[in-house]
Amino acid sequence: MKGLILSGGKGTRLRPITFTSAKQLVPVANKPVLYYGIEAIRDAGIKDIGVVVGDTREEVKAALGDGSAFGVRVTYIEQEAPLGLAHAVLISEEFLGKDCFVMYLGDNLILGGVKELAKEFKRDKPNAQILLAKVPNPNQFGVAELEHGKVVRLVEKPEKPMSDLALVGVYMFDHNIFEAVKNIKPSARGELEITDAIQYLIDHGYKVHPHMVNGWWKDTGKLDDMLEANRMVLDSLEHRIDGHVDSISKVEFKVVIEKGAEVINSTVRGPAIIGPGARIVNSFIGPFTSIDKNVQVLGSEVEHSIILEGSVITEVDRRIEDSLIGRNVEVGKSPLKPTAYRFMLGDNSKVGLL
Ligand code: G1P
Repeated sequence: MKGLILSGGKGTRLRPITFTSAKQLVPVANKPVLYYGIEAIRDAGIKDIGVVVGDTREEVKAALGDGSAFGVRVTYIEQEAPLGLAHAVLISEEFLGKDCFVMYLGDNLILGGVKELAKEFKRDKPNAQILLAKVPNPNQFGVAELEHGKVVRLVEKPEKPMSDLALVGVYMFDHNIFEAVKNIKPSARGELEITDAIQYLIDHGYKVHPHMVNGWWKDTGKLDDMLEANRMVLDSLEHRIDGHVDSISKVEFKVVIEKGAEVINSTVRGPAIIGPGARIVNSFIGPFTSIDKNVQVLGSEVEHSIILEGSVITEVDRRIEDSLIGRNVEVGKSPLKPTAYRFMLGDNSKVGLL
């Protein structure tokens, strides 16, 4: 079995962060989302992984290299434009050959990985295995209709969903998927949809097995989902303090403080992670917060947020919550006169003032 990870796409729903960074590389609990996918596939015993890349190819390549750091072999497959998930399969035919494969959308996170799913697929040998999860907003996903436990219909982002069963971004296929992706037409949004390719398999008598996901799963394409993914992953971390915490600081509940991080006269209430080289001084870090490498939080309070590498937060009066702050951002009190807010914000930024 091989792996195919899709790591193209524009990440429009996570702008402005994705103007400068691939959505699959935004960290959850200080680790790029994409790494969780690579590790999930590796832990299922799959070593050969194709990574489909688009506009952000350089950044993705720099992050994964040849895969050896993860114990896998990565082959990059160039997608010249985001023409759909089925198009990504189409251009990967040479890499995949006749092997069965697990296809994993690089912005998805699935608790418990894919080991059991791969085992089930190998045992039952259907032509495709899809993962389904109940969601409150099925119109934002591919939706499945089942009859007596069998998949009868799949529709991509239907206006009137036939059920609340969303297609999770992890699929397993045998080589018959190539016949399907070659025979479908682009959808209204101009993409070759994997949902339509699987419908083709159903319509042509191929076996498509559904598997219900009962554990936690998230497509991290939007801010709220990103924060939720961050909550779930932080909650599963083990308490570990490798950095320096001074004697007047308090570290409560599950907290990871990496080597080289400093906590001075502050409280860190977990679940939370403080990355290497970060400095937390005269501050409060509340539950469900990820503070990345070399971030400084000085005289401020941050909770339920993700702060990326190199950012500095200084003397902010009110607590910062529900926020995703990019790299090397400065948020702080300005001593300059006249007293005023002073911003330099990228396109599509969002600021909530009191
Ligand atoms: C894609 C698929 C959709 C699936 C979703 C899961 O949507 O087209 O069927 O439910 O991933 O994350 P996209 O995120 O590309 O809009």
